[in-house]
Amino acid sequence: MNNKYEKERRLLHGGDYSPEQWLSYPDILADDLIMMKDTHSNTVSLGMFSWSALEPTEGEFNFDWLDKIINDIYKIGGNIILATPSGARPAWMSQKYPEVLRTNNKREKMLHGGRHNHCYSSPVYREKTSIINKKLAERYGEHPGILMWHISNEYGGECHCNYCQESFRKWLKNKYITLENLNNSWWNSFWSHSFTDWLQVESPSSLGEENVHGLNLDWKRFVTDQTIDFYKHEIKDIRKITPTIPITTNFMGDVNKPAPHGSTDYHKFAKHVDIISWDCYPNWHNDYESTADLASKVAFLDDHFRSMKKKSFLIMESTPSSVNWQDFNKAKRPGMHLLSSIQHIAHGSDSNLYFQWRKSRGSSEKFHGAVIDHDNSTENRVYQDVKFVGEIMERIKSVKGSNKNSKVAIIYDWNNHWAFEDSQGFASSTKKYTETLHEHYRYFWNHDISVDIIPPSDDLDNYDLVIAPMLYLISEDDIENLCNFVKNGGILVGTYITGIVNEFDLIYLNGFPEKLQKLFGINRIENDILYPTERNELSFENNNYKILDYADTIQVNKAEVLSYYKNDVSSNKPAVVTNKIGKGRTYYIGARTEYTFLEDFYNFILVQLELSNPLIKVGDTEVSVQSRSSLHKNYHFVMNFSENNKTIEITNGIFDMVSGKKSDFILNLKPYEVRILYSYNKDFK
Ligand code: GAL
Repeated sequence: MNNKYEKERRLLHGGDYSPEQWLSYPDILADDLIMMKDTHSNTVSLGMFSWSALEPTEGEFNFDWLDKIINDIYKIGGNIILATPSGARPAWMSQKYPEVLRTNNKREKMLHGGRHNHCYSSPVYREKTSIINKKLAERYGEHPGILMWHISNEYGGECHCNYCQESFRKWLKNKYITLENLNNSWWNSFWSHSFTDWLQVESPSSLGEENVHGLNLDWKRFVTDQTIDFYKHEIKDIRKITPTIPITTNFMGDVNKPAPHGSTDYHKFAKHVDIISWDCYPNWHNDYESTADLASKVAFLDDHFRSMKKKSFLIMESTPSSVNWQDFNKAKRPGMHLLSSIQHIAHGSDSNLYFQWRKSRGSSEKFHGAVIDHDNSTENRVYQDVKFVGEIMERIKSVKGSNKNSKVAIIYDWNNHWAFEDSQGFASSTKKYTETLHEHYRYFWNHDISVDIIPPSDDLDNYDLVIAPMLYLISEDDIENLCNFVKNGGILVGTYITGIVNEFDLIYLNGFPEKLQKLFGINRIENDILYPTERNELSFENNNYKILDYADTIQVNKAEVLSYYKNDVSSNKPAVVTNKIGKGRTYYIGARTEYTFLEDFYNFILVQLELSNPLIKVGDTEVSVQSRSSLHKNYHFVMNFSENNKTIEITNGIFDMVSGKKSDFILNLKPYEVRILYSYNKDFK
């Protein structure tokens, strides 16, 4: 244990605190401290949007207010996650140095305002962030209250200014060395697009080039690299001055899709942060999906963020009640705050941090949910819910740092996602890459089996089953990785829309790549598109299942056929096949199907693998059980994501973490109720 975060024995509870909005309200600031203690809030994130309070005019700094806040929080036993303020800049800076502002893809310079509106290449912005970050590190690096650095806020977006164009060209030169290589890789002979001078190369623009897929893909990769480069610039002095304080930056996820933020490849970014943290805002109790449907999407994202470092992560932002930016900003029903908070912990979070601690008095977020409402009351439901979550988190704190052990992985790849979204052909409204990943994930969530979400280049040795749906773009190296996994005994599931382009977004010539043909024992002859109202069917194990959106025509070379299409041009042709390779086996699902097929298909292939929790077998798809393990104990989170009472049977030797007593064999769960249990790890003597 060498840093304060590792030594911290509590799970982190608290959230984004904006005292700079309340500096002329000393009574409010005093109440905050009392309420933090009262709600068992032990951690605040500070300073995300404080730049103009810290540097009101260029070069004149005022840290006095922050000194006091940090000292006060430390005195009540609190931790500080200290942010660098680059997410929003003071007006004086935009006025004096307009280059710090973003330029959009139409080459229009944005005006000062909003936030996250800065250029990652601007030398002035880099210099200004260096100065303030260094001052923060020098001033607070030794302060015993500082737990972690929170770099900027939700990095994202892109800038098309001249600095960024220059950096992009440099990035391309580094990758392609010669223009000839670039022209070939982007297939620039098409529409006379070949470049003869590097200065002709520009970022994609709705006023110019948007159709060169290789360019679009490289631009997205560049934006990720430039964002990471800016982040690395931000942490340079911080790392030097405070080498033992861990660093995070809050990532974003879109629960509706469900997918992590689209414009940044977090698999790449994750390598540069010490701890993964992300901001999660599900719209509970919406009118278009069940609570369990939504819960499975949150779970999918939690598992994705956990998998980035294969260790516990942090929820940096969530709302204690509602947000202010959904179409309908509904408050959580009784029980949902505890359930939704514990769900993150069940999937590997060591925190529940909120946006926001106190509702602002003015401006756009004044109605966003917060621990403290405008009434400043300790009596209202949200405050009481937060306090209750804080109490429970204290009782279950030994969970901190424990991990999940998954034998199943689903492959997600940003490059593939970007390229497939950009592809013209197929069908535009039914691409549904991440939705498809989630459909496969859903089986495992329904059956309480832990899943990692990983890139195709990841080490696959520890998995029994790898599921790689719709790998439209796949490099030869990644194909090799999948082949080795299977040869060594793994089970691989692949699907339609796989192996079509390489990492340059160039089509594999001569059809389905030879290595994939061998791996799946088939050749793919054709891919058909179905209109949204059209259906075909496949038969599998004496049942028929609906097919929608996509259907491959498959020619079998060596594989064994498990299922045939029923109708249309592919009638009686193979739809699902399996192939034995080395010590392993592959499955290829040729068509998108209704969910019930996936349910029966995975039941069929999982008979040999004992993957479910041996202690708690629920068999109810609205009650989710997730487990985390430490050296000595297994923690089990039993969560009722439904509006009904549920009865669950569990085996012997399980204790309730909240009461500390041995658990009953029968758990009667009320709507939204959660139980947190533990058992001893049998290998521990
Ligand atoms: C996040 C952001 C916060 C706050 C929150 C509102 O994206 O980081 O500062 O605006 O959304 O839900």
